[in-house]
Amino acid sequence: MAVDVILGLQWGDEGKGKIVDYYATDYDIIARFQGGPNAGHTLKLNGQQFVLHTIPSGIFNDHIINVIGNGVVIDPVVFRAELDNLITLGIDVKSRLLISKKAHLILPTHRLLDAAAEKAKGKSKIGSTLKGIAPAYMDKTGRNGLRVGDLLLESFNDDYQFLVNKHKALLENYNFEFDLAPLESEWQEAVEIIRSLNLIDCEHYINDQIIAGKKIMAEGAQGTLLDIDYGTYPYVTSSNTISASACIGLGIAPNQIRDVIGIAKAYCTRVGNGPFPSELDDETGELLRKVGNEFGATTGRERRCGWIDLPALKYSIMLNGATQMILTKVDVLNEFDEIKVCTHYDLDKHELNNNKTERVDRVPYDLHKYGITPVYKSIKGWNTEIKDSIPELLEDYLEYLEKELNIKIPMISIGPAREQIIRRTAESII
Ligand code: GDP
Ligand code: IMO
Ligand code: MG
Repeated sequence: MAVDVILGLQWGDEGKGKIVDYYATDYDIIARFQGGPNAGHTLKLNGQQFVLHTIPSGIFNDHIINVIGNGVVIDPVVFRAELDNLITLGIDVKSRLLISKKAHLILPTHRLLDAAAEKAKGKSKIGSTLKGIAPAYMDKTGRNGLRVGDLLLESFNDDYQFLVNKHKALLENYNFEFDLAPLESEWQEAVEIIRSLNLIDCEHYINDQIIAGKKIMAEGAQGTLLDIDYGTYPYVTSSNTISASACIGLGIAPNQIRDVIGIAKAYCTRVGNGPFPSELDDETGELLRKVGNEFGATTGRERRCGWIDLPALKYSIMLNGATQMILTKVDVLNEFDEIKVCTHYDLDKHELNNNKTERVDRVPYDLHKYGITPVYKSIKGWNTEIKDSIPELLEDYLEYLEKELNIKIPMISIGPAREQIIRRTAESII
């Protein structure tokens, strides 16, 4: 059986965790393929809210095997806290969680380096979650990293010390003060837990399961506009977040990918710095934040809010080869008389654009270097609570989006709970 991918089409926090959990009953395996504890995926089950950072969102379904792929970076300390939490809830995690030996480890010094680098950037800081993501991926691509499988080697402590010494020199260069000892002791304890878990050769495991006919879903983290290559660079994360990354991050061939399910909010949010053309720095933005409860699941930071951005969504759908889109947080717009949709960008005169002004519906190179004025279309709001059917004006809005984006929206999400979903088609969508 082939692999389906669920991922975010915006700047993260689109509601991926909720949708993965919703679909999970139809799958045998849920696998994370990139990112790390910068992710915060929220699930609401039986009135209770859970946030997952490293462990896939299939963990609350008894029959599902959850895989952390080689593309993920793991902080043992965050991972352990997550694991303990789930075990306290009575969830059998250990027998249903497999970790790739090729996943890279986030060291305490990676976290320190993240903080030091952000501080040094001053006003141009990225707004990182400070979980050590960039330094860990830098060590991976710089061929210095430590992998989960290395924990089983006798040389591990020496290898660890070698890398830490390098980090200490870098931290000194930054003039960054730190107290490593307490961070190291909790890290070493947490590493013991990882050693005791099922560590696998993910690429072989996943391909064996494909041959055995198992249904696999790859769960993305972050969102397309945070992709290291295609996002709003340098205000991005340090991994590829698009569907192609599922191949690299799990060890599967491109022709094994079947459906790509893109998740998008009915409006737009971003946490951290960087360009956001349709951002609303006014009371409407404030209302979206309040009604949508837009505060980060990992850092608690306020999320910046704005209207849905069609040029950005077209770009994301193209890059991912998305076969369908699920619109989330539609309920947040219930109380708006008028909704706006950004259809184009007006680019200011700029040397990157041959010194001319231009109206475009494509995301330009280096979005943050242009002056950009979003062009909006106004949509009449449905202005009513959505229960179990779709109000006519909302249906019109969904049909408009489908036409503009050339993609089907088979399902919408109307609340944080697992069951707060409305299907628009009776057919199976996966
Ligand atoms: P993820 O990172 O993509 O998994 O998304 P997050 O969990 O970071 O953020 C999504 C937030 O919206 C969480 O607090 C969810 O509980 C909540 N949420 C998800 N879907 C809906 C929805 O349809 N309506 C509302 N009101 N909240 C939702
Ligand atoms: P999920 O999976 C939203 C953002 C950070 C920052 C930038 C770089 O929950 O959708 P990093 O810590 O990766 O160096 O931060 O990326 N960011 C996210 N924003 N959702 C996420 O994950 C994010 N992961 C990273 O806020 O702007
Ligand atoms: Mg999130």
